[in-house]
Amino acid sequence: MLVLGIETTCDETAAAVIERRADGSGRILSNVVRSQTEEHIPFGGVVPEIAARAHVDALDGIIASAMQESGLRFPQLSGVAAAAGPGLIGGVIVGLTTAKAIAMVHKTPLIAVNHLEAHALTPRLTCALAFPYCLFLASGGHTQIVAALGVGEYVRLGTTVDDAMGEAFDKVAKMLSLPYPGGPQVERAALGGDPKRFTFPRPMLGRADANFSLSGLKTAVRNEASRLGTLEPQDVSDLCAGFQAAVLESTSDRLGVGLRLFHEQFGPPRALVAAGGVAANQAIRGALQQVAAKAETTLIIPPPALCTDNGAMIAWAGAERLALDMIDTMEAPPRARWRLDENATAPPGLAHTRAGF
Ligand code: KG4
Ligand code: ZN
Repeated sequence: MLVLGIETTCDETAAAVIERRADGSGRILSNVVRSQTEEHIPFGGVVPEIAARAHVDALDGIIASAMQESGLRFPQLSGVAAAAGPGLIGGVIVGLTTAKAIAMVHKTPLIAVNHLEAHALTPRLTCALAFPYCLFLASGGHTQIVAALGVGEYVRLGTTVDDAMGEAFDKVAKMLSLPYPGGPQVERAALGGDPKRFTFPRPMLGRADANFSLSGLKTAVRNEASRLGTLEPQDVSDLCAGFQAAVLESTSDRLGVGLRLFHEQFGPPRALVAAGGVAANQAIRGALQQVAAKAETTLIIPPPALCTDNGAMIAWAGAERLALDMIDTMEAPPRARWRLDENATAPPGLAHTRAGF
C-alpha cells in the first residue's frame, strides 16, 4: 500500500509518501517539510492568514518533491490522505482540497485524517507497537493524554483546560523577550537558572482527573517578571528554570494520574508514547522516563522529525485507515475543531468511539 500524506493544519507545509506492508510494518519513501517559522517570527507567533497563504504558495512544490523523492507517479498510489483538522481552518482547506483534487483526477481513495490520530499512530510506523498504548501529546496547539485502543478508537483521558503546553512555553519566552518559537529558548535559558529562586504554582497537582492547566503558571511568571522590572540574563534564566520545573512537576503528576486511569479502564498500556514539539525538551523527556518507569511501562518517543508536524504521520494514519477500508468521500469537511473521541456519549474517560464516524 502506497499512500501520499499532506499536512497543512498549522505552520508546516508537508507532504510524504509511505509504504505500508501487509504485515503492518511501514517505510518512509519521502518526507518533505517546509516550516513557515521565518514568516511568523516578526509577529512572535503563528498568524493564521499568513499561514494559509504560505500553504497555498508552497504546497504544490512540496507534493511534487515528495512524489519525486519517492520515485513514484500518482497512478501508483493506493490512496491520498490529508489532515482534515483540527487546526487553522485556512490551512486545513488548502491541504484537504488539494488531496481531493489529486484523488479525483487519479481516481484513488481519499482519507481525511484527524491530525491528532496521526500523532497517535506514528509509533506504529517506527516501531511496530501494538494497541493499547497511552499517548502524551504536547505541542503548540494541543496537550492531551489519550488512550489509543485501535485505529479510530481513542479515549481522551486528559486535556488542558486553558493553554497548550507549547503555547505556554512560547508565551513565557515572549514575555521574557526571547525569540519565537520559545520552547527551545526557554529550555536553553533554564539550563543556567536556579529553579528554586521563584516559587511558581504547580497547577492541578493532586487532582483526581488527568487534566492540565497552564495559564495560571504563565501569569505567575509574568507577575514575577514585571515585579523585577529590568531583567538581567540571570533573572531570565531563573524565571525559565522555575517555570520549567513547575511544568515538569505538574506533567509528571498529571501523567501519573492519566496512566492510572488507563490501567483501571483498559489494563496495562504497552507503552507511554510522547509526541509533539514539547517532547523535544530534554528535561521533560527525563520526567517522562521516570513516570513510565513508575507505571512499569516503556517510554517511546518517535524521532524528532516524526514528533513534530510532518506528512509521513498523515500518510501513515491514512494507510492504517485504508487497510481497514475506512475511506472518505469528497464531502469530507475541513474542521477547525475535531476531538479524537468526539462521538463519545458516556462520561469522559469511559467512552470510546471511532474517530471521524
Ligand atoms: O508539534 P509542534 O512542532 O507544532 C505544533 O504546535 O503542532 O510543536 C511546536 C511547539 C511550540 O510551542 C514550541 O515552543 C514547542 O513545541 N517546543 C518546545 C521545545 N521545542 C519545541 N517546548 C519546550 N521545550 C522544547 N525544547
Ligand atoms: Zn501536531
